[in-house]
Amino acid sequence: MSVTVRVPAKVNVQLAVGAARPDGFHDLANVFLAVGLYDEVTVTPAESLRITCSGPDAAQVPLDASNLAARAATALAALHGIAPDVHIHIDKDIPVAGGMAGGSADGAGALLACDALWGTGASRDELLGLCAELGSDVPFSLVGGAALGTGRGERLSPVEVGGAFHWVFAVADGGLSTPAVYREFDRLTAGTRVPGPVASDALLDALRTGDAKALAGALSNDLQAPALSLRPSLADTLAAGTEAGALAALVSGSGPTTAFLAEDAAAAREVAAALTASGTCRTARTAASPAPGATVL
Ligand code: C5P
Repeated sequence: MSVTVRVPAKVNVQLAVGAARPDGFHDLANVFLAVGLYDEVTVTPAESLRITCSGPDAAQVPLDASNLAARAATALAALHGIAPDVHIHIDKDIPVAGGMAGGSADGAGALLACDALWGTGASRDELLGLCAELGSDVPFSLVGGAALGTGRGERLSPVEVGGAFHWVFAVADGGLSTPAVYREFDRLTAGTRVPGPVASDALLDALRTGDAKALAGALSNDLQAPALSLRPSLADTLAAGTEAGALAALVSGSGPTTAFLAEDAAAAREVAAALTASGTCRTARTAASPAPGATVL
């Protein structure tokens, strides 16, 4: 018997970052939108915990205990006093270390899959609590749709979305380390007063009304400047997408994936083709939002 869970990627349509807290994390106003690029996590009983991964970027995925999927299985098993003897297979379609919460998706997916496999019957709140311990973005991977994350991003409140949005994601060569991007944010803002992060009303209105042009004008990411500082070539990718007709361009989360909002699905395909031809990214993918959260197949 095995259980498979499908989990979406995310883009941050607003990522407002406050000053570093004493614990090193940053308070956020983080508006997450789940997008239709998915990893599938399959769990099967085994003699001991092991992870395998397939997909074009599988070689970049750590298969040891540091993988969030392994940590999720271990945490759920510990809570219920059972052994985490399970084979976790990740069929990976979300860019690795790309600022699209691919690792978080695998953590949320493994948690939900193991809960179903082991019949541990965790409540939604218990699952969300475990997700928050695994990482700031993991609760959103479970929930999907759209949500405002406060605290370090793990405290979620639902956000209404009134229509479909069409995106292009330009995948860069190699990843960016999230802690390194936050450290660069601290370096770039040193000596300045960093305002407390607040969700944008204009952005929430644009999501609620499903208005792509209004959303384009309201997108913002405080990690864009530090990501560009660490990877200046991303500016060329952003420019190529804008020249190709995207309504807006921004770095996705901590990058280096860049996200482009398009008017409709046909425009998204055109922007993706132009980005691929531009030579400024490894590949370009189209996806629509919102997408459902982690789902048992
Ligand atoms: O929570 P997560 O493990 O995904 O965070 C990875 C790293 O990103 C943290 O160790 C921290 O350096 C940085 N981070 C942060 N503030 C947040 C979320 C993440 O500084 N709100």
